[in-house]
Amino acid sequence: MPTHTFKVNGETVTVEADDNERLLWVLRDLLGIRGPKYGCGINVCKACTSHINGRAFNPCAVPVGALSPDDEVTTIEGLPKTVGKDLHPMQEAWLEHDVAQCGYCQPGQIMAAVAKVNQARREGREIDDALLDEIRNVCRCGTYYRIRQAIKAGAEKM
Ligand code: FES
Ligand code: FES
Repeated sequence: MPTHTFKVNGETVTVEADDNERLLWVLRDLLGIRGPKYGCGINVCKACTSHINGRAFNPCAVPVGALSPDDEVTTIEGLPKTVGKDLHPMQEAWLEHDVAQCGYCQPGQIMAAVAKVNQARREGREIDDALLDEIRNVCRCGTYYRIRQAIKAGAEKM
């Protein structure tokens, strides 16, 4: 079985897995990192949204063999560490706006939100509804209105 080395939430890990094993299963089943959720497995629902090298991606669609030792994966578990706090400002905004219902989609929603705000900053764009329309994460509970409120509030503290 091939081995694969990369960074997850600030730590270097080495796992044994087929090259084609999707990273979502490596995270969840081999590494016990279960914040990224399984919804569709085909890069559509975005429940598994995490970051790779600071950008949003969907680990259900990435084979572990595509990662290199320099690649840095961040999941919801590692998000607070990126700002040196117990909670990331976007997570605090989520709590203040009481966004979650069942909660299943919410780790992916928060990771997508942080990546989108960072992307907007790089591109000099406003955090407005046109920008938020680009977030495609599905929420079966329909929490979209509060998600948007929370992203705007969280962005102000990022
Ligand atoms: S489980 Fe990854 S996008 Fe749906
Ligand atoms: S809170 Fe239930 S799916 Fe989004």
